Amino acid sequence: MSKDNNLLGWIDARFPLSKMWEDHLSKYYAPKNFNFWYFFGSLALLVLVLQIVTGIFLTMQYKPDGATAFASVEYIMRDVDWGWLLRYMHSTGASAFFIVVYLHMFRGLMYGSYQKPRELLWLFGMLIFLALMAEAFMGYLLPWGQMSYWGAQVIISLFGAIPVIGDDITLWIRGDFVISDATLNRFFALHVIAVPLILVMLVVMHVLALHEVGSNNPDGVEIKKNKDENGIPLDGIPFHPYYSVKDIVGVVVFLILFSIVVFFMPEMNGYFLEHANFEPANPFKTPPHIAPVWYFTPFYAILRAVPDKLMGVIGMFSAIIVLFLLPWFDRGKVHSIRYRSTAFKGLLVMFVISFVALGYLGAIPATETRTWFARLFTLGYFSYFFGLWFISKNENTKPVPERVTS
Ligand code: HEM
Repeated sequence: MSKDNNLLGWIDARFPLSKMWEDHLSKYYAPKNFNFWYFFGSLALLVLVLQIVTGIFLTMQYKPDGATAFASVEYIMRDVDWGWLLRYMHSTGASAFFIVVYLHMFRGLMYGSYQKPRELLWLFGMLIFLALMAEAFMGYLLPWGQMSYWGAQVIISLFGAIPVIGDDITLWIRGDFVISDATLNRFFALHVIAVPLILVMLVVMHVLALHEVGSNNPDGVEIKKNKDENGIPLDGIPFHPYYSVKDIVGVVVFLILFSIVVFFMPEMNGYFLEHANFEPANPFKTPPHIAPVWYFTPFYAILRAVPDKLMGVIGMFSAIIVLFLLPWFDRGKVHSIRYRSTAFKGLLVMFVISFVALGYLGAIPATETRTWFARLFTLGYFSYFFGLWFISKNENTKPVPERVTS
């Protein structure tokens, strides 16, 4: 720590700047065997910053008013200097955020990063995921296109399925009897300030919780168990400069892929920006096919798979609640997929297939056959959690090494 009679010394005597730098970067010891899957935490941070910065500049030109919102977005796209770039970066960023976060969560499933002692870290992650879904949902209303309007209509009306208080809740959310200017105004306030603030606070808590317990790794062994005489983990390396530099590689690759989408395929064939959203919102004309953006479709498919509306809503929310409870579904002691049973691997493969299939089914119009498939994959989705609970107690695991292997 700096004790010199210089600017840093002056600051350190009044604010723990060097201490924070050391605790979280230069003397935070991370396992030396991080692999590809460990890029996505820092990438999620990058996308969060990108979304906030592009969002600030979009807000300078966007008008949160039912009469002018659609036109203000067109104005940003056509007349504002670099407006098209800001808007495409922000809309592509929304999808990129979910791609990165889904891969980040999948890493957690593979390596048991939610298991003891990282349960709270996982719970903060899940709260981030909830906040992110709320943020994306409210942001999507702002362009005030057909899909903004009707997507919000479908999702908000789901709350009407709640017995007794359902109608009052939908009225309270919309601030009107239909989706209107009042809804747009409150969604704008929540999207631009309230939820981003919560997101940033949750991310800080997420990283603090991570640094309290220490990172897991692809071997799932605790590096804190083997320390040298100075108390430094034998299998740990300082986050800075080793991983700060390594993460730059991830950032560069990510930005190349991100730029390709932004510059050459920002609509991604209707998956990132839906075609119906290029038409202004019209309360008198329902689009023939209403589907949420791709990152919501697995949950939307579960909703549609259940015949009863209330049960469908419960099913959809349960799909998220079970993820919160994952640390307690998994009763296993072994963390990493490398040393877990074939049954565990089978369950995880089934979960991934179900999730992707539900995502696909939720994006296309429902038919009777497709609904049956959606039911099958809904079963696959939930079976992961209950199956895990069942197999993890007396699982046939491989011997876990004492130290990390590479
Ligand atoms: C804005 C979104 C998020 C940001 C910025 C973020 C950030 C990070 C960072 C920087 C790390 C350390 C680097 C790494 O392990 O990749 C991390 C680790 C972790 N995150 Fe997140 N995260 C986010 C969302 C989530 C979500 C949604 C979950 C799951 C529900 C989650 C669960 C975890 C877990 C379990 C770890 C520890 C992984 C390990 O040590 O193996 N995170 N996060």
